[in-house]
Amino acid sequence: MAEHRVLFVCLGNICRSPAAEGVFLHLVKQRDLVDSFVVDSAGTGGWHVGQPADQRMQAAANRRGIHLPSRARQLAMSDLTSFDLILTMDQDNLDAVQSLSREAGGRSTATIQPMLGYARRHQTRDIPDPYYGGEAGFEHVLDLLEDACEGLLETLTNPAKHPE
Ligand code: 4NP
Repeated sequence: MAEHRVLFVCLGNICRSPAAEGVFLHLVKQRDLVDSFVVDSAGTGGWHVGQPADQRMQAAANRRGIHLPSRARQLAMSDLTSFDLILTMDQDNLDAVQSLSREAGGRSTATIQPMLGYARRHQTRDIPDPYYGGEAGFEHVLDLLEDACEGLLETLTNPAKHPE
């Protein structure tokens, strides 16, 4: 059985969280750790359910050699027990997941955290929504996610190692 079940969450599940899923899977495959992880993504909203990642997000990821396999789905109450770790892209996503967790009461077992808490090179707390902006916004999302995904994988695979 997989050691780590990780769910990335944003608003629409067509830009940021599918990119997080793709970047993290890319690192996991590079390190030959596929069997240790279940990785998925979801949106707090349901407008884009069933859709692949936004073409602009896919194109930006492909330029870095990263494939985005996701089809959008909406976050469900069951995710709060199916996943160990739920990572949110911005404060609104964090508030929404925490609110759902409160509704679920004792059934919610997942740890809910901001994704950028794992970034080492960037100090910012939120991954900005690139949907209504230009190409640079999608590149910035990937820069932030590559940093945070590296930190996340390092933390999950070396849990005893804490920085001084
Ligand atoms: P995401 O971006 O949350 O990173 O997937 C968005 C995509 C679509 C919308 C909002 C955010 N929308 O309002 O349709």
